[in-house]
Amino acid sequence: MTTSPRKIIIDTDPGQDDAVAILLALASPEDVEVLAITAVAGNVPLHLTQKNARIVCELAGKPDTLVFSGCHEPIKRPLVTAEHVHGKTGLDGPVMEEPTMALQAQHAVDYIIDTLRAEPTGTVTLCVLGPLTNIATAFKRAPDVVEKVQEIVLMGGAYFEVGNITPTAEFNIYVDPEAAKIVFASGVPIVMMPLDVTHKALTTAPRIDAFRAVGTRPCDMVAEWTDFFERFDIEKYGSQGAPLHDPCVIAYLIKPELFAGRHINVEIETSSDLTLGMTVADWWGVTDRKPNAMFMGDVDADGFFALLTDRISRL
Ligand code: RIB
Ligand code: CA
Repeated sequence: MTTSPRKIIIDTDPGQDDAVAILLALASPEDVEVLAITAVAGNVPLHLTQKNARIVCELAGKPDTLVFSGCHEPIKRPLVTAEHVHGKTGLDGPVMEEPTMALQAQHAVDYIIDTLRAEPTGTVTLCVLGPLTNIATAFKRAPDVVEKVQEIVLMGGAYFEVGNITPTAEFNIYVDPEAAKIVFASGVPIVMMPLDVTHKALTTAPRIDAFRAVGTRPCDMVAEWTDFFERFDIEKYGSQGAPLHDPCVIAYLIKPELFAGRHINVEIETSSDLTLGMTVADWWGVTDRKPNAMFMGDVDADGFFALLTDRISRL
């Protein structure tokens, strides 16, 4: 029995890994119906993330995709960006053409609210690839939409793998910890892809060579983006390639069996300067705090990259 594609909104801060996730989603219409892409400030400022989202849609040959611009800064803190990883454009590596497709006039937060109100309850999944500012702002402005959300699948957090922007915090959570706290306390079913799992999805040479062998422009861009942004992780971790964080979110919707984790309680540190943005995961169940997230810890990395290459080669 074939199921209809899952309706998703991709909230994102492109970012090369976000870009690969967007390509995977747009290449998989039988699995996901991309209602829209909503940009948020994160890896680079908002004027670049909204532009990059449109660049990627055009690269995918989908210029009719609805792209909205959202929050330009976190709920209560100044924006922290990651040009040291993604370059000053956020999509450094290859030279990308300026986008010609339109940016939607409506604010992304209003689009998210209106869409959740309009669609039947439990039919829209929020795929969050950056700081949770847009989502938390929508929940604060319109609490009635919280119960309308089918599920939130997000890239963010870390526990055993510890932090990548501070010793204890992962970037997406660290940039807007207050937003993360709101989302993790919302009661919406959450599937999280922390560094614990994304660091097992490394862009090794054979995996990137498989993209190069396809010979299409989208696959060439994946290889060139990877060549650029993996230098940070290779230098820092001495790893064989870079973790391809954000595509884990979309791959989960297409082939959930690629991933394994545990439904546990996860709380967000918002007051300590030392551990701000830490996702405190009760992995061993030592508290009576209610489980609120499926914390993914393992991935079939070969299966993940085979899916990525197979799907993105369609574009
Ligand atoms: O920590 C990795 C996350 O931060 C990824 O989503 C990357 O794109 C950046 O947003
Ligand atoms: Ca991201």
